[in-house]
Amino acid sequence: MKKYFFRFKGLLSVNIFIIILTAVANVYLAFILKSIVDIGTNGTVSELKTALVFSLCYVAATFAIGYTRKFLEALYIKKTLIALKNDVFSKILGQNLKSFNEENSAKYISLITNDINIVEQDYFINILQIIYNAVSFVIATFAIIKMNVYITIGVFIVGAVTIIIPMVFGKKLGKNKNIYSDNLGIFTTKVKDMFSGFEVIKSFNIEDKIQDEYKISNYRVENSKYKYLLLSAFVDGLSEIGGFLMFFTAIGLGTYFVIKGELTVGAMIATVQLMNNIVGPLVIVSTRLNKVKAVKLIGEKLVKFAGKNQNCDSGIDKLSFEKGITFENVNFCYSKERKTLDSVSLNIKKGSKYAIVGGSGSGKSTLLKLFLRYYEDFEGAIKIDGVDNREIKVSDLYKLITVIHQNVFMFDNSIGENITLFREYGEVDIKRAVKLSGLEELVDRLSGGLDSNVGENGCNLSGGEKQRVAIARALIKNTPILILDEATSSLDNETAYNIEKSILDIDELTCMVVTHKLVDEILRMYDGIIVVNNGRIEEIGSFDELTQKKGYFFSLYNITKEDLVK
Ligand SMILES: Nc1ncnc2c1ncn2[C@@H]1O[C@H](COP(=O)(O)OP(=O)(O)O)[C@@H](O)[C@H]1O
Ligand SMILES: [Mg+2]
Repeated sequence: MKKYFFRFKGLLSVNIFIIILTAVANVYLAFILKSIVDIGTNGTVSELKTALVFSLCYVAATFAIGYTRKFLEALYIKKTLIALKNDVFSKILGQNLKSFNEENSAKYISLITNDINIVEQDYFINILQIIYNAVSFVIATFAIIKMNVYITIGVFIVGAVTIIIPMVFGKKLGKNKNIYSDNLGIFTTKVKDMFSGFEVIKSFNIEDKIQDEYKISNYRVENSKYKYLLLSAFVDGLSEIGGFLMFFTAIGLGTYFVIKGELTVGAMIATVQLMNNIVGPLVIVSTRLNKVKAVKLIGEKLVKFAGKNQNCDSGIDKLSFEKGITFENVNFCYSKERKTLDSVSLNIKKGSKYAIVGGSGSGKSTLLKLFLRYYEDFEGAIKIDGVDNREIKVSDLYKLITVIHQNVFMFDNSIGENITLFREYGEVDIKRAVKLSGLEELVDRLSGGLDSNVGENGCNLSGGEKQRVAIARALIKNTPILILDEATSSLDNETAYNIEKSILDIDELTCMVVTHKLVDEILRMYDGIIVVNNGRIEEIGSFDELTQKKGYFFSLYNITKEDLVK
């Protein structure tokens, strides 16, 4: 946290300077009082008038200093928080999928919203307040020693004006606060959206775009709060003036009566004023220090995150796919109790198309996840053109492979943006992807066309439509390897057949398609079928070979067929 407290050293120094100035000005009040009181004992009304004019100038100067102090504090907080929040977010985004998934995404949201708010109030602002009160205390102590007076009396400023002023500005202040809170809401939803789409962000290498969008939203929130704080600082300043004016009115009147000989007062008034700068700050410093201590844990958590080593994208550059993919005796388990993949070996030539079938929970998705490097702690090796996938740069890996999952994540943007994922593509490419994925009819039907909004996580679209968007998203990325994990499960057989056919017709493309649609027209289109059973590769072969063999696949196929008949 200290690192961020001192991040903008120049601005911090200016803040501390103005804090000292404010404290000096506050303590100086006692001396003004004293001189006025002195006039009361042996001066004239005209001397009093001059002193009061000077007091008014003092009030104006105090207001200017106080306002500048709040302005500088707001600027300091704005800059510091923007830096801290950008750092924390960038570290969260820099994680790989595995370490990201170790925490619930809501935790990250809370970290970057609630925790930061707490740190802002109880750490940054608090420390500035402590400095101010400590400085006031020290200066006032020196002053009171110099005065050499030992009277302690209670405090007397009544704040009628201080109550009325916030009421006048209350509405405008509330409006500003509301704008801030709205922006905060939008920001939280956006961030939640981005974290839910983490997998998509990673596998499409769009960290930069997401970071940019995040930065804009982050700036909006902090800036609207900044505006709110400026107005409230102005209102606070006015209230302070009200307090001062009442104070001077009382003193002025009191002194006037002293001159008239109807009242006796002494330098004790000045001392009373100085007491304000001693007792108050003492109480404030002690309570606020407790707050700083209390926020330490949250601060440490944040800094740990902000300082966490960036998961640097190192490894072998691999920009093309030439020969094929091999799985060499791969073993993997999520937990010690059960082996999820057992001695899996495969050889997939470039350009070939494989269907992966097997019962639910047999390990099909896991097989693909290891290939995609979601998990790295497996035995054996998975190689692309003979290069271990764990040694290839992650960003390069996702330039070679695109994956479409059963559950499609949608950003709350237009269909077009969900297809391009915020990258620039030519109209021809977009049209082709829309056509191949069977989205043409939907786009034509919607009045907004490609610009129609999909709603939060695509709630305006059906499951099948979302899957088509996901297919278009994958096709436009145009990688040499395409992976579908039950990506057509929400589509009817005919649509699934048409889409899978158009994908399988792309010559150069290497495909691995997990499907539970055991429909012979679809399965016959593949070069081979990989049959997974209980984490093992049970059989591999063409549709005809496997049905003639009358083994595990044949029984699976028949069960599905019987289900269809029922
Ligand atoms: N993240 C995970 N943690 C623990 N177990 C998992 C995880 N993901 C999947 N599994 C388990 O691993 C087995 C294989 O899952 P999966 O590969 O998703 O099967 P399939 O895709 O063939 O339906 C299942 O028993 C499943 O419960
Ligand atoms: Mg699965």
